Amino acid sequence: MEGFSLELRDQPEPLEQILVDCRDTLKYGVKTGHPRYFNQLSSGLDIVGLAGEWLSATANTNMFTYEIAPVFVVMEEILLKKMHEMVGWGEIEADGIFSPGGTISNLYSVLVARYKRFPEIKTKGMAALPHISLFVSEHSHYSIKKAAAVLGIGTDNVIAMKEEHILLAIPSDHIPLYVSATAGTTVYGAFDPLDNIADICEKYGLWMHVDAAWGGGLLMSRKHSFKLNGIERANSVTWNPHKLMGVPLQCSAFLVCEKGLLQACNQMCAGYLFQPDKQYDTTYDTGDKTIQCGRHVDVFKLWLMWKAKGTRGFEILINKSLELAEYLYRELNSRENFELVFDAEPELTNVCFWYIPPNLRRIPNGPEREKLLHQVAPKIKTRMIEEGTTMVSYQPHGDKVNFFRMVFSNPATRKSDVDFLLEEIERLGKDL
Ligand SMILES: Cc1ncc(COP(=O)(O)O)c(C=O)c1O
Repeated sequence: MEGFSLELRDQPEPLEQILVDCRDTLKYGVKTGHPRYFNQLSSGLDIVGLAGEWLSATANTNMFTYEIAPVFVVMEEILLKKMHEMVGWGEIEADGIFSPGGTISNLYSVLVARYKRFPEIKTKGMAALPHISLFVSEHSHYSIKKAAAVLGIGTDNVIAMKEEHILLAIPSDHIPLYVSATAGTTVYGAFDPLDNIADICEKYGLWMHVDAAWGGGLLMSRKHSFKLNGIERANSVTWNPHKLMGVPLQCSAFLVCEKGLLQACNQMCAGYLFQPDKQYDTTYDTGDKTIQCGRHVDVFKLWLMWKAKGTRGFEILINKSLELAEYLYRELNSRENFELVFDAEPELTNVCFWYIPPNLRRIPNGPEREKLLHQVAPKIKTRMIEEGTTMVSYQPHGDKVNFFRMVFSNPATRKSDVDFLLEEIERLGKDL
């Protein structure tokens, strides 16, 4: 960051310098709105969402009480209601809260599941509880483990398994409490069979959570929403509009199928904030439902985008990202130097693949080739970042060596950008 001083001084700096600093901040940062930025599940820059963020910052208020955020609190209620309907809870008195990201929404799911079964946790703590086990699908996001660590359950008590094995591996002194199914896994974009998992949860009285942080947006697509069939049977759902729906970071909803549970679980009734004798209906003081005190206004940008696009606008956006994923899948299938991790049409917008440089094609399948292939994606990524032309993520997964994970959620991306990416990978990697 040549010439960009980050040092802070005692005296104010001139306006001219402040403006240069603003330009440099964007200049040296990563252009996540660029049509060839594919690195993360959240990408792109929606101008209405940006306007929403500016207005929220202008209002500079706090979500904890209706007293100081009346409009935003009502907007949150409207949004939650809309999302409940899409999940299939239109007829139920459901609840929810916008939280600072999918990780925190998933944490809420474990928190309320535990409180529902063991309300004494709130006052007595973990010492009063038996051992509890949480179950996650094999490719679930690491945030459930994190929640187990934060909530004193322990990561050893999070059991990752294939759906048909649930409950087979629980020590006899453990209480199975909770299952988190994933609707759109982080790396593969895969969907767990929600109805089958719901059957198991019903049979054994387990809390069913659906982590739809990534795939939740598909509920807006009439063509693709069937992939979430069974979500209506969940007790709670995480849905991040800041991913597939392109809402600027951050915007994540935690939805729960029982009114009052969040409040009972988290409320502390701080007298200085939640006075019971205010002149309005104090159930609109939603702040005590959360594990925070102050809470950022994340709802307005989503509300504004929904107003400006309508549900159908989000549907078009999401279908377009899915079409780009299908296009990439077909391109990879037809190109000699690429190999798909799965030879199946993408379920979401994730497409995972290896680039096989010509030198490697000569080596027969086996450990030697695997070892070399493992180094290809990181080397290409390093060159990609040095050149600044595009950005895509890679990782190993299970027994698979490093592969590229492409995801589409950026509305600015076109087919020509997909072609560019493949050609760029070949250009940067053909000598490896
Ligand atoms: C399936 C899934 N759940 C949860 C998360 C966590 O979301 P956040 O980054 O908003 O905390 C992610 C993030 O990629 C995810 O893919």
